Amino acid sequence: MRSCKMPSGNEMPVFGIGTWRMGESRAKRDQELAAIKYALELGYPMIDTAEMYGDGGAEEIVGEALAGVRKRPFIVSKVYPHNASRSGTIAACERSLKRMKLERIDLYLLHWRGGVPLAETYEAFFRLRQAGKIADFGVSNFDTGDMEEAATLDKGLTGSDQVLYCLSRRGPEYDLLPWLRQRSIPLMAYSPLDQGRLLGNATLKKLAGDLRCTPAQLALAWVLAQPGVVTIPKSMTRERVKENLGAVDLKLSPDVRSELDRAFPPPKRKQALGML
Ligand SMILES: NC(=O)c1ccc[n+]([C@@H]2O[C@H](COP(=O)([O-])OP(=O)(O)OC[C@H]3O[C@@H](n4cnc5c(N)ncnc54)[C@H](OP(=O)(O)O)[C@@H]3O)[C@@H](O)[C@H]2O)c1
Repeated sequence: MRSCKMPSGNEMPVFGIGTWRMGESRAKRDQELAAIKYALELGYPMIDTAEMYGDGGAEEIVGEALAGVRKRPFIVSKVYPHNASRSGTIAACERSLKRMKLERIDLYLLHWRGGVPLAETYEAFFRLRQAGKIADFGVSNFDTGDMEEAATLDKGLTGSDQVLYCLSRRGPEYDLLPWLRQRSIPLMAYSPLDQGRLLGNATLKKLAGDLRCTPAQLALAWVLAQPGVVTIPKSMTRERVKENLGAVDLKLSPDVRSELDRAFPPPKRKQALGML
């Protein structure tokens, strides 16, 4: 599995499983746990979660799925903006570690910008990093202006910006993605299937048929073909967990990429960053 280097020098895998909407319902818990365990069995090298997901429930499922695994995946989690004060960030991280039964989170993100001054959150990130509780830190849902501001505080260490990016949401290509690339900060694309909405697109379906892959694999392979981009599709369905991993080995020809560009044109002007 390929990886992307973060400004700290640490590597982040290009592919992982997301966990939004997991840990919310007792009835679905076994299925969600089985999906994450299966992803790990198949060799998914990264899990994305957050204290927000299922109010800690998703992190608990992650912790359970990790019990007994031989090769620990790269773990990403996020702090709520309302917890992101100097002491609040540290306390939130400690709660996340406890729920996942971990000693260290590989990448810890501010979930989105809230009312707490960014300088306070970054100070907490530095302290957590120094204490070994996180290896890297970063942000999510930050547009270029927010990144510029973060760069004044980050000592060159912001590890990633996790944003909405997929074939039908290409806005970040206009300025955010080039800005991140210049600084070797990986963009982590969330909702790479546009939460499933993308998959009914006629062009995507036709091209996938021609390539003998599925629309989801084609959509994910397109995201993975963008330099400096990593992604974290979510599924709690066994077959789809396996199907999605198949995208990692799918290479897209220039002709296929041009057809996708015609169906999903790249942005011609600045678009405000989308958020789900
Ligand atoms: N930082 C943020 O603000 C933010 C926001 C949104 C998401 N995220 C992260 O990014 C992850 C991924 O985004 P997402 O969950 O919003 O959306 P997504 O990964 O684009 O799509 C997930 C949806 O697509 C379905 N799906 C997955 N694989 C499929 C396949 N092969 N064929 C058909 N349907 C498929 C899933 O259903 P089943 O589960 O039933 O298979 C689920 O309903 C999240 O789980 C979360 O970790 C972060």
